[in-house]
Amino acid sequence: MALPRKVASANYMREREELFACPVCGSEMMVTEDCSIVCDNRHSFDIAKQGYVNFMTHAATSMYGKGLFEARKQVIESGLYAPMHTALCDLLKQMNTNVVVLDTGCGEGSHLASIKNEFQEQSDHSFVGVGIDIAKEGIIAAGRNYDDMIWCVGDLAKSPYQQTSFNAILNILSPANYTEFKRLLKPNGMVIKVVPQSGYLQQLRAMFFADSEKESYSNELTVERFKENFREVEIKRIAKTIAIDQELVPLLMHMTPMGWHQNNNDTAINLTEITIDLDILVGKI
Ligand SMILES: C[S@@+](CC[C@H](N)C(=O)[O-])C[C@H]1O[C@@H](n2cnc3c(N)ncnc32)[C@H](O)[C@@H]1O
Ligand SMILES: [Zn+2]
Repeated sequence: MALPRKVASANYMREREELFACPVCGSEMMVTEDCSIVCDNRHSFDIAKQGYVNFMTHAATSMYGKGLFEARKQVIESGLYAPMHTALCDLLKQMNTNVVVLDTGCGEGSHLASIKNEFQEQSDHSFVGVGIDIAKEGIIAAGRNYDDMIWCVGDLAKSPYQQTSFNAILNILSPANYTEFKRLLKPNGMVIKVVPQSGYLQQLRAMFFADSEKESYSNELTVERFKENFREVEIKRIAKTIAIDQELVPLLMHMTPMGWHQNNNDTAINLTEITIDLDILVGKI
């Protein structure tokens, strides 16, 4: 009989417990037999029945709710982001080593799960995937849907991990904290940040923000800040327009908190194609 999710997750985390640092006092942590993660100073965090751990030390509000994460999961599973998954997987394979990968602002976890699957199909090296997000609803979904991964509710600016623990840090369409990322990376590690480019979801934006500055993105400042923080920066652009089924339209509109869907009748919108246009910024410490 299969082990309950909580016990299976505790076993998986115990084998990798050297990754954890107490978010209160910074000391080493142990995964106990009764499925808690406890530090030397007895600060304790329970593993939930869905297999994730909540490391938040203060309450946080999030504009990202359950419906948004369900929509994101379905859109990601439709294959819209497949070119990005392949590009990120290729970067990790090029490291030519076993990898421990942290996805910061992982949401409901499908990007990290897809990248891990692709990596394991194509490489003999091992892949340990760790995801952190401040939105509990996202991490609950990640824990429920993807096993053999480590899912944590926490703040990426003050993360519950030991220094120099990760070969790569992913940061996909999420806020970043470069001081923390540098603390967490192994010496030859890399940061991979994904930011929208000018054509990203342009068909939706054109519909809702016609004649306003929100109609197009510029990521110039983000790129500049990234270059100030990391060495050997390379930028790879992934742009693709694909045909979409009409059922995807309401999901596309619900996967962002920006409120494209507010005051609009989803079913009245007719979209036949959508553009994914992203810059992948890669840097070393
Ligand atoms: C646009 S979503 C992207 C989610 C996911 N990477 C994806 O592409 O589907 C941004 C994510 O960043 C998370 N986030 C924002 N601030 C954070 C913080 N301080 N620590 C951890 N996660 C954070 C949000 O909760 C949200 O899930
Ligand atoms: Zn502690």
